[in-house]
Amino acid sequence: MRVAVVGVVGRLGRALVAALEEAPFAGMRPPIGWDQPELELDTVTAASFGALLDREHPEVVVHTAAWTDVDGNAREPQLAMRRNGIAVGEIAQACAGRGTDLLIISTNEVFDGARTDGRGYAPGDEPHPINPYGEAKAAAERLATEAFAGSAGRLSIVRTAWLFGPPGNDFPAKIAAAAMRTKGAGEPLRVTGDEVGTPTYTPDLAEAIVELVGTDTPAPPGSVTIHHLVNGGRASRADWAREVLRRLAIDVEVVDVPASTWQRASTPPLWGVLEPTPLPSGIPMRDWREAFADALPALRREIGAR
Ligand SMILES: NC(=O)c1ccc[n+]([C@@H]2O[C@H](COP(=O)([O-])OP(=O)(O)OC[C@H]3O[C@@H](n4cnc5c(N)ncnc54)[C@H](OP(=O)(O)O)[C@@H]3O)[C@@H](O)[C@H]2O)c1
Repeated sequence: MRVAVVGVVGRLGRALVAALEEAPFAGMRPPIGWDQPELELDTVTAASFGALLDREHPEVVVHTAAWTDVDGNAREPQLAMRRNGIAVGEIAQACAGRGTDLLIISTNEVFDGARTDGRGYAPGDEPHPINPYGEAKAAAERLATEAFAGSAGRLSIVRTAWLFGPPGNDFPAKIAAAAMRTKGAGEPLRVTGDEVGTPTYTPDLAEAIVELVGTDTPAPPGSVTIHHLVNGGRASRADWAREVLRRLAIDVEVVDVPASTWQRASTPPLWGVLEPTPLPSGIPMRDWREAFADALPALRREIGAR
C-alpha cells in the first residue's frame, strides 16, 4: 500500500512517517512525504494537488499539515480559513475525484467545550466551534465530506487533542521552562485549572492512524467515518503541569487559575474531552501518563539544552 503524508516536518507528520516505515502490515511501502514549498496550504487547489496524486499514485493520503498557531488563527481568521479549511476541501476534491482514500486530522476545537455532564464529545455530536481555528477545522470536515459524496474513495476524519512529542517545544517543555524561571524568582507557577482535555503523544497517535490505514475496513466507497483518537484519561492544564514537574523533579508549586486569567487572542474550549472511538484491534490507546513517561528522555535533553 502506498501512503502519502502531507506535512512531514510537523509534530504528527514526522511521527507518522516513522510509524509507516515500521508498519507491521504486509505490503506497506515507504511513505511519500509532501511539505512546503511543494505543497502550500495558502495556494493549493484541487488541480495542483491532483498533479501530485497523478505523479505518485498513492492509495491513501493522510493530511496532517495545518496552521496550528491558534492565536495566529484568531488574529487572521481569513488566512486561517484558507489554510485550515479551504485547502483541505481542495485536497479532498482531488482525492475524491480519483477514488483515493483520504484521512484528515481534526481537533476537539470543533466543539465549544461548554459541556458540563462529564462526558467526552462523541463523533455524532454537532460541531459548534467558538474560535477561528475551530471554525476553519470544522469547515475542513464539512468541505471534505461534501467532496467525497459519490466518490469511489473513502474519507476518514480523525479528531485528536493536546498533542505533545518530538521535536519538543510543546506544553511539557514550555511548562518546565516556565517553572525553572518562577523557581528562580521563588514564586509558584500559575496554570489554567478549568481547561480539561487529554494530552496525546504523537508517536501513539501515529501508530493508531497506521492501524486504521493498514486495516481493511468494510467502509463502502463514498463513506465518511469520524474517529476520536486520544490517549486514555483526562487532565486539566494544571494537572498536566504538575505531572511534568513531578516527573522532572522540579520543586515548584502549581496553583490553579481560571483560563480567563490570561488575555489571549483565541478562546480555547474549556471542556476539550473527546470520547475515544475503538481501533480495529480493540486495544485502547494507553493512558496519557504512561505515554508521557516515554517522552521524558527527550524532554530532559531538551530542557538541559536550554
Ligand atoms: N498540536 C495540537 O495540539 C493539535 C491538537 C489537535 C489537532 N491537531 C491537528 O493535528 C495536525 C498535526 O498537528 P501538529 O501539531 O503536528 O502540527 P505542527 O507541528 O504545527 O506541523 C504542521 C505542519 O503543517 C505544515 N504547514 C504549516 N503551515 C503551512 C502552510 N501554509 N502550507 C503548507 N504547510 C504548512 C508545517 O510545515 P512547516 O513546518 O514547514 O511550516 C508542518 O509540516 C493538524 O491538523 C492540527 O490541526 C493538533
